Amino acid sequence: MPVLGSPLCAAALLAFVVSSVSVSLLIRSLQLGAKKGNMTKGTAEDQDLNWRRSALLHQLNERRKEIIPLLSARGSEKKMLAESRYFPQQHQSFSAMFDYNLWNEITDGSRRMLMDEMDCDSLVGVQTGNVLGSGYTKLVLKVVLREDQPVALKFVNEQGNDMEKCLQDFGDPRGCLELVAYKLKKEIVLLQRLKHPNIIKLRGHCMEEPGQGLERDGGGRVTAILEQGYPLQMIQLLQSPWEERFRVCLGLVRLLHFLSRSPLGSVGLLDFQPRQFVLVSGELKLTDLDDASVEETPCRSDRDCLLQFPHRNFTLPCSAARFCRDLNQKRNLYNAYRYFFTYLLPHQAPPGLTHLVDHIMNSTGELRADINQTLGSFEEILLLYKSGLHLDNLPPSIIRDYTVMRGLATAGDVEYRCWPSFSPRGCVLAVHSALEGMALCSAHPQCTSFSLSGETTWSGHLLASFRSGFSHLLPDGRSEVYLRRAKASEPSGV
Ligand SMILES: Nc1ncnc2c1ncn2[C@@H]1O[C@H](COP(=O)(O)OP(=O)(O)OP(=O)(O)O)[C@@H](O)[C@H]1O
Ligand SMILES: *[C@@H]1O[C@H](CO)[C@@H](O)[C@H](O)[C@H]1NC(C)=O
Ligand SMILES: *[C@@H]1O[C@H](CO)[C@@H](O)[C@H](O)[C@H]1NC(C)=O
Ligand SMILES: *[C@@H]1O[C@H](CO)[C@@H](O)[C@H](O)[C@H]1NC(C)=O
Ligand SMILES: *[C@@H]1O[C@H](CO)[C@@H](O)[C@H](O)[C@H]1NC(C)=O
Repeated sequence: MPVLGSPLCAAALLAFVVSSVSVSLLIRSLQLGAKKGNMTKGTAEDQDLNWRRSALLHQLNERRKEIIPLLSARGSEKKMLAESRYFPQQHQSFSAMFDYNLWNEITDGSRRMLMDEMDCDSLVGVQTGNVLGSGYTKLVLKVVLREDQPVALKFVNEQGNDMEKCLQDFGDPRGCLELVAYKLKKEIVLLQRLKHPNIIKLRGHCMEEPGQGLERDGGGRVTAILEQGYPLQMIQLLQSPWEERFRVCLGLVRLLHFLSRSPLGSVGLLDFQPRQFVLVSGELKLTDLDDASVEETPCRSDRDCLLQFPHRNFTLPCSAARFCRDLNQKRNLYNAYRYFFTYLLPHQAPPGLTHLVDHIMNSTGELRADINQTLGSFEEILLLYKSGLHLDNLPPSIIRDYTVMRGLATAGDVEYRCWPSFSPRGCVLAVHSALEGMALCSAHPQCTSFSLSGETTWSGHLLASFRSGFSHLLPDGRSEVYLRRAKASEPSGV
């Protein structure tokens, strides 16, 4: 890591970064002024124009300043520098230790961070695909790159509210595009710095230099190339098996745990909503990071550390260092509770696990547990669920009610529906063992047999298909069929 020799150098670098802001914009506005006819300063219209330009420049400057701390070195390096006498405390967040390569990368798109990353070349000649989603700021398209790789491309949404509002305020299409593009640039920096299985993977990015763009003369188009997922459909998720819903919540908690101690410090998600996430093969991934914050909230007393939600307020302690302790972490956790856990977690939880689920609901709903403890509770549930320990009250005698036929599968099935099934047509449930399958079949009046196909879910549970009849059997090495005997004489109460 390059450590500059003197505070003077650091200051110079900082000055460079901040003062080079949109020189192009300034030049353009000067040219514009000249074109308008050699007016002496003074007309009201002129003043308004000047005011708007400087306001836009100010905004651009602010956006840039937001990115600088994200480019800075990791926590440990920060600490080392803080302790070195070269850097006065007040220049900490700006001290010249930010990754200069990354800054170049973001500002001119001239370099590649990693050899395996995709860049503008990867996008040559791709067909525009269908829209995966759009929001206030960004537009996301699905495209297929060479070698049949599906990816999601994220652009500035030129029809979005952010752009619209900027145009209203400043009336400068190029300046506004640049302003809105900063959000996407910030997101790209964050995606480069925050790598986690529950954060969407940045496959690469493309930044055309100003004037180099193919479709416009304008200010450097920015494209993020991302792993492709599917927007989170809360309604659909509500109807899916508990195991799937638990997986989403577990992924979220693992993500929040990572964010609480990330390379950038504790990260708060300021705009925390289900639409900021997508699913990639059933795994939850954060995709919208432009509203992430690594700031800590300064305070003088606990009263400054109020965490407000529509139906609940919390007051957090103001630490000795005069920051609201764990504010980012606690805000994230309560949002996870109110947007995810309350809808997804309790409903249809396995009976042997409900007490643990209730405990999580209560401790997060009251913000009594921190993210470490919450992750601990989730991992405990996962362990129990995987090991089947929560099923210890299954009656072993139930085995006598079933005949097993190995190496066979059924054909001509007469299906019935159950809920919540992995298959919309029939009754397909995740079971820990054949024994749990028997218990379920015996609990369904329509069930006369079920099969285990050898297929498993993410947690390692077996997928069992239940049915009320079939016409014949076929050889199938991986499959087992369990026939329920003497349905009429069935003992009740399973
Ligand atoms: N990698 C991806 N794969 C599939 N869909 C995605 C992907 N990334 C984003 N989306 C979809 O695109 C939408 C818009 O993306 P994003 O949330 O980043 O834009 P935004 O303008 O910041 O949105 P908002 O107005 O919600 O803040 C998302 O809500 C999501 O549904
Ligand atoms: C306006 O300025 C241009 C150069 O900037 C000059 O050539 C031209 O004569 C000026 N016109 C008037 C009306 O002053
Ligand atoms: C939360 O605090 C705000 C501001 O102090 C107050 O107006 C609101 O009524 C409080 N809400 C609840 C649910 O206590
Ligand atoms: C937590 O449990 C307490 C006591 O049982 C109860 O009063 C409270 O409403 C619960 N809170 C939540 C969020 O479930
Ligand atoms: C969580 O645990 C880690 C160590 O595993 C610790 O450094 C951190 O301070 C803990 N966070 C909280 C909020 O307790």
